[in-house]
Amino acid sequence: MTQPINVFEYETLAKNQLSEMAWGYYSTGALDQITLGDNRAAYERYRLRPRMLVDVSQRDLSVSILGQSLSRPILIAPMAFQCLAHPEGEIATARAATEAGMMMVLSTLSTQSLEEVAATGCPRWFQLYVHKDRGLTKALVQRAESMGYQALCVTVDAPFIGRREADVRNEFTLPKGLKLANLLTMADVTLPDVPDDSGLFAYFKEQIDPSLTWKDLEWLQSMTKLPVVVKGILRADDALLAVQHGVKGIIVSNHGGRQLDGAIASLDALQDITDAVGEQVEVLMDGGIRRGTDILKALALGAKAVLVGRPILWGLAVGGQAGVSHVLQLLTEELELAMALSGCPRIGDIDSSLVEPRTIANL
Ligand code: FNR
Repeated sequence: MTQPINVFEYETLAKNQLSEMAWGYYSTGALDQITLGDNRAAYERYRLRPRMLVDVSQRDLSVSILGQSLSRPILIAPMAFQCLAHPEGEIATARAATEAGMMMVLSTLSTQSLEEVAATGCPRWFQLYVHKDRGLTKALVQRAESMGYQALCVTVDAPFIGRREADVRNEFTLPKGLKLANLLTMADVTLPDVPDDSGLFAYFKEQIDPSLTWKDLEWLQSMTKLPVVVKGILRADDALLAVQHGVKGIIVSNHGGRQLDGAIASLDALQDITDAVGEQVEVLMDGGIRRGTDILKALALGAKAVLVGRPILWGLAVGGQAGVSHVLQLLTEELELAMALSGCPRIGDIDSSLVEPRTIANL
């Protein structure tokens, strides 16, 4: 096959490339995968209302997020275990991010350490899972801060891991040679092998703190100078609580449909939240972004930027660093063209008048 021309072609190629266990872990969602499907379907529920006769000969996709300037409004979502996709794993992703001037959010559960990823020099945030062992959690935060991570992205939608049936069926665990690179030097933790169950589910049950509340966000903020961004908010009242507790950013997300099945699609949750919080904090979103037009719709509904998840893994599986770079390039070019065709030369030109929900009346 010649070079893939879109993210979906990368997905098809990646499926052939990956083991059944890795494909199951990467691609699926929780239970009946209703939220996984709805994350995509939500984009089709909005139509675009392009403006004509605007000079779009020069386009500028740059944005500033938490005071950091990014070449485009796309970040790489935190995703665990990237060495399952390619031997260079997170390092390859980080190099692609560096090349493109884009932010990578590194998962706590990465298979290469936060120090190794920092050494690539990529723009970077650290995603934190709060472990029951608060000493370990604190040490992770301190390591991230000292290694130049520019924000702490605290995932709040995973007191337990969602029931992903492919992982149960495949008895998901890490193959020999892959490790929890951030944790193994600090504590004796690995993903267990569990008969008839997911090792990741067991890991969360043992290690992750399900008692986490808003108070703990204050504790986290008291120990770091890094701005805190909460990832996994789906309701306006929670978004307002996040603001009250001093966070600097909110990521509207349902974890790519991998946590509570039946949860609202991220795009559907977005506008309520952006309306409620206004300019008080920066609102980002993720879930189901596969086209530049998806990004345009998310920005029109008030997101300052989006995070892209699985497409990065498809690029990584197919072509390592070059595959990730190409996926990022495809999405960027699609966004740039969509902006031009809708009369928006700059990101700041994208506003809510650009989208209209489909209703039964206007179908
Ligand atoms: C994730 N996600 C995730 N989120 C997080 O906060 N910490 C993590 O370690 C992971 N790990 C992870 C692994 C894999 C394989 C996937 C697919 C996802 C969720 C991720 O950050 C993001 O919210 C979704 O992936 C976005 O949806 P799309 O773009 O994959 O549809």
